[in-house]
Amino acid sequence: MPTNTEFCRRRQHLAEQMLANSICLIPAAQMVTRSRDTEYAFRQDSYFQYLCGFPEAQAWLAISNQANNPKSVNAHSVLFCADKDEEAEIWHGRRFGPNGAKKHFALDNAYSLDELDEQLLELLDGHDNLYFAQGHNADADELVFALLQALREAPKQSMQAPSNMVDVRPLLDEMRLFKSAGEIAIMRQAADISGKAHIRAMQSAKAGLNEYHLEAHIHHEFAMHGAKHPAYGTIVGSGVNACILHYTDNNQALNDGDLVLIDAGCELQGYAADITRTFPVSGQFTVSQGQLYQLVLDAQLAAFEQVKPGSTFKQVGDAAIKVLTQGLITLGLLAGSLRFNLDNKTYRQFFMHGIGHWLGLDVHDVGHYKIAGQDRPLQAGMVLTIEPGLYIAPDADVAEQWLGIGIRIEDNLLVTADGYDNLTQQTPKTISAIEALMTQTSLSKNIPTQVKSS
Ligand code: GLY
Ligand code: MN
Ligand code: MN
Repeated sequence: MPTNTEFCRRRQHLAEQMLANSICLIPAAQMVTRSRDTEYAFRQDSYFQYLCGFPEAQAWLAISNQANNPKSVNAHSVLFCADKDEEAEIWHGRRFGPNGAKKHFALDNAYSLDELDEQLLELLDGHDNLYFAQGHNADADELVFALLQALREAPKQSMQAPSNMVDVRPLLDEMRLFKSAGEIAIMRQAADISGKAHIRAMQSAKAGLNEYHLEAHIHHEFAMHGAKHPAYGTIVGSGVNACILHYTDNNQALNDGDLVLIDAGCELQGYAADITRTFPVSGQFTVSQGQLYQLVLDAQLAAFEQVKPGSTFKQVGDAAIKVLTQGLITLGLLAGSLRFNLDNKTYRQFFMHGIGHWLGLDVHDVGHYKIAGQDRPLQAGMVLTIEPGLYIAPDADVAEQWLGIGIRIEDNLLVTADGYDNLTQQTPKTISAIEALMTQTSLSKNIPTQVKSS
């Protein structure tokens, strides 16, 4: 978990960027009902998590930069959270309570949720601008609009509602796009755990198992390293299922001769890893599978070459697309010249998604890809995925040997001052490394555990 010093630094940085005499309100995530009397596993709102790390639902964070606030030195941070309650804690788990929260999370003040309306009215009063993520959380919108209305209707008490509402997201998104050393350390750990899970899936795969067995291995490995949840719905697609980009049924048998595509990453302390590997159920690629696999890998490595400060996501993607298109022509899946195929984007029938995305607290993390309509240059501290693929539909108009093959290879790269650092490089991905790992495993599975004496 980032330290309180880091949370304070983030709140201070936000306060410094807000217009003078502003207040920002950030609600925590809410519990969501899954079925009668049970809820989905709670996940904290990413903005709230980024600014204070308080782990409970039904809380609010307020940050003011009001210069004459008697209570504040710099960014004045106030939390509202549930009171301690012996009975409720027996049923639903421990709570910090306002006093515990103030102490543990280095806040200027903390109040009971019971005082939310009253205290927020006082806090909002006299600020010129309210920074808020309107439309992000319907219940939060309702409360904020009601408070503003109450302030506007209270001139006799000489209260003054902020006259400007400003979207806080652009400021926070830009901050979140650049990862601190602390965040990178956590993301490296999430990448390591996720890599171990992919290796275990490769070692466990064999015909006769089901896709859900590999999913179970992956999630078990995550959990055994303290990552209790995947960062997104795990994809285990064997055979033609690999051609469904967001396949999550994961309920079909694994067959010899098929590839299996696994897109899985754990969430650790709120941060996501996002790795895809594709490997043969049998441990050996067929010639056609190997040719397409090598092409996707070559495209990915060509994209990596472009990852450095000053390059754009478009340059990164174009490098991969050029390699993919040339390879598809060479293998006979596309006809005509490279120029013709690039101009007509013919690769899109086989590679229909983007080359990658920002990665952080959200798997598809926040941050603009363009600035003033122009592709933004990469900068040190950004973390992104590079994930080219080829998906040859079972009814595609190509030779039979390619039909139903789906391949994606996805890694997580930190942009550094002079290039990149591949956070997921420990997860095997060359044909020889994957085959060696899987052969080694199947050999060791056949070694008798006891030598019989004669
Ligand atoms: N796992 C989602 C993605 O690769 O974007
Ligand atoms: Mn991804
Ligand atoms: Mn992915």
